[in-house]
Amino acid sequence: MKIPFFIQDFTDEMEQAAIHALRNESFVGGESIIKFEEEFAEYTGTKYAVSVSSGNGALQISLMALGIGDKSKVITPTNSFIASANCIRMTNAEPILTDIDLNDGSIDLSHSKNMVNAIIPVHIYGNPCNFDAVRLFSQEQNIPIIEDACQAHGAEYKGEKVGSLGDVGCFSFYPTKNMTVGGDGGMTTTNNEETALKIKSIRDNGRKTKNEFDKLGFTMRLNTVNAAIGRVQLKHLDQKNARRREIVSIYRKNLAEDCILPENKDGKSVYHQIVIKHEKRDEIRQKLSDNEIGSAIYYEKPIHQQPIYQEFGYKLPNSEKFSREIISLPSYPKLTDEQALEICECVNKVIG
Ligand SMILES: Cc1ncc(COP(=O)(O)O)c(C=O)c1O
Repeated sequence: MKIPFFIQDFTDEMEQAAIHALRNESFVGGESIIKFEEEFAEYTGTKYAVSVSSGNGALQISLMALGIGDKSKVITPTNSFIASANCIRMTNAEPILTDIDLNDGSIDLSHSKNMVNAIIPVHIYGNPCNFDAVRLFSQEQNIPIIEDACQAHGAEYKGEKVGSLGDVGCFSFYPTKNMTVGGDGGMTTTNNEETALKIKSIRDNGRKTKNEFDKLGFTMRLNTVNAAIGRVQLKHLDQKNARRREIVSIYRKNLAEDCILPENKDGKSVYHQIVIKHEKRDEIRQKLSDNEIGSAIYYEKPIHQQPIYQEFGYKLPNSEKFSREIISLPSYPKLTDEQALEICECVNKVIG
C-alpha cells in the first residue's frame, strides 16, 4: 500500500522506557504501573485508574466489580467491537443490543423501553455519545454506567473527559488505538474507591491480602513494561489527537461532499476513526484500493449479525443500513497533508 490504513507507532522514547523498566523494575506490579495509573487518572480527571490487560478485560472486570452477573441485563449498542457485548455474556448476564443513530452511529436510546441492570454506552470512533440521554436512562432506572471509551482516549463531553462521566470508564491500548502500550492493555477509571479496590482485586485473582482471596478473579494485570511505554504515549496523546483533528479538517474541506460523520455538538471527538457514510461506499473502497490507499470498515457486521449473536434474533435496521454505507479513511497522526489531499482526490473521483 502506498498509503496504508494504519501504521504501528514505535519510537526511540518508547524503546528506552521499555528497556529501563525491564532492567530496573519488577516485571509485574513495578513502579511504572503505579505511575501510569496516577497519570492516567489525572489525565481523565478521575480519582482512580486501575490498569488491566485489555479493553475487554476492563469492561468485564468493571461489570463484575459493580455486581453484574447471573440474571442481570445490560444494554449496549450493536454498532461496536464485539467486546462491548461479549464482556456482558462473559459475566453470565444477558446483553440487550440496541440500535443506533443513523447520523453518527452512536447509541440511540429513544426507542428503548428495556429495564436493565447496567448500561454500556460506547464512544464510538472517538466521538463522545449523547451522554445526557445516557444519564437520563440510568437515572430513570437507577443503574450504573460503564463507559466504553476504548476508542476515545482524550475525548470530551461538555468539557469533561470521557471515562470520568459514568461510574467506570474503560479504555483499550490495542495498537491501533489513539494511544498504545506496545501491545494489548487496558485501563479502568472511576471516582469510587470501593469500585477501584474491587477492580484491583479481580484483576489479581480476587486477592484480598497477600495470601487470602475473597472473590473470584482473573490474572488480568498490565505488565510493567507496557505501563512504561503507556506513560510515554500518554505524554504525547493530546498532540497526536490534535493532529487527527487537523487531518479531519483537511478531509472536510476537500471532499466534494461533506459525508464525514458529524462530531457531537456537545463534545470533542478524538477521531479514532474518520468515517465517511455514502451510498457509493463500495465504489469508494475499490477506487482507494486501486490507488493503493488503505481503508477499513468499522464494522462490516453489527454485533447482532455476528454468528455468535444470531441466536438472539435481533433486527436493528439502522445499524444494518449504516454498516453498508460506512468506510474509514486513514486517520493516524503521521499521515501528511499531501497524503490526506491525495485521499480526497481519489474519493472525489467517485462522489464528486
Ligand atoms: C469499542 C471497543 N470496545 C472494546 C474493545 C476491546 O478492547 P481490547 O481489544 O483491548 O480488548 C475495543 C477494541 O478493540 C473497542 O474498540
